[in-house]
Amino acid sequence: MNFIEVNQVYKKYGKLEVLKNINLSIKQGSIFGLVGHSGAGKSTLLRTFNGLEGINSGSIKIDGVEVTSLKKESLRKLRKNIGMIFQHFSLMDRKSVYENIILPLECWGEKIDKDRIYNLLELVGLKDRAKHYPSELSGGQKQRVAIARALVMNPKLLLSDEATSALDPLITSSILDLLLEIKEKLGVTIVIVTHEMEVVKKICSEAAFMENGEILKCGSIESLFLEPDKKMREFLGENEILPSSGVNIRIYFPKEVASNPIITKMARELDIDCNIVWGNLESFGGIALGVLVINIQEDIKEKVFSYLSTHGTNWEIVD
Ligand SMILES: Nc1ncnc2c1ncn2[C@@H]1O[C@H](COP(=O)(O)OP(=O)(O)OP(=O)(O)O)[C@@H](O)[C@H]1O
Ligand SMILES: [Mg+2]
Repeated sequence: MNFIEVNQVYKKYGKLEVLKNINLSIKQGSIFGLVGHSGAGKSTLLRTFNGLEGINSGSIKIDGVEVTSLKKESLRKLRKNIGMIFQHFSLMDRKSVYENIILPLECWGEKIDKDRIYNLLELVGLKDRAKHYPSELSGGQKQRVAIARALVMNPKLLLSDEATSALDPLITSSILDLLLEIKEKLGVTIVIVTHEMEVVKKICSEAAFMENGEILKCGSIESLFLEPDKKMREFLGENEILPSSGVNIRIYFPKEVASNPIITKMARELDIDCNIVWGNLESFGGIALGVLVINIQEDIKEKVFSYLSTHGTNWEIVD
């Protein structure tokens, strides 16, 4: 079931078109990534999900509710069900970890169940830090507090805007593990805005690649990686320097094929030579996927094309 349905969303800031014909479906209980360079419109799109940004036209449905038609009171209710985390944590320095976490409950005038707060603290790994102040915490711990605070209202949706961008790779990885755990334990749908492909590769099942207010590509992580277009490839940093003679072929290995020594087998079976120019094997949510660029002589290219096509790889000629 889709938890978020975005249809033909269009938004302008003055003359600047920041969102152009955005269409998206995000499944309930999934982790979805919005990726792209700075200024692409990622944060703006994310903020339309909880009505923090209005739109000029189109439709945004969250859990079946049309956000764009909500009036003040219903919008407040919707926001109650949506948690949000940011790059700079936005904690109150003068309040302890515990006090920061209960802020939304106080703000909504809801009952504070101390045991539940301690369960949340345990979930984010800060049970022994309840009485500490933000200045006594590391960046990763601050983000854990912000995550607990974002979860305190039991949201169905968690929005994350560059939540790991200020953290080093190791801490980023532990925060991403925590988000995965939250998705699994609490069934929360999570939408992550990031410019780091590593983040998407680690925890998202699907993602949209944005540029200049448009979605250039959208789909499962595998399909984004296996069939990237030119812009996506630039974003992934795959701008290889290629030999100028012969034929260069970029081969994508889907998960069933990734671990097969397909190139050596091909060279043996066709009795040909091929040079490996560039290669990369990566893990996507624990699944191994690979990309390999090979260079072959012009006169054997038809044999190679047909071999690759009949052995379960996606491939293309690159210049
Ligand atoms: N309040 C605003 N008024 C006018 N223009 C804005 C406003 N907020 C954002 N913009 C513009 O809209 C475009 C998209 O901005 P947005 O913040 O959504 O991009 P982003 O993809 O999140 O970028 P970043 O990765 O740098 O956070 C940018 O050109 C930005 O300058
Ligand atoms: Mg942004």
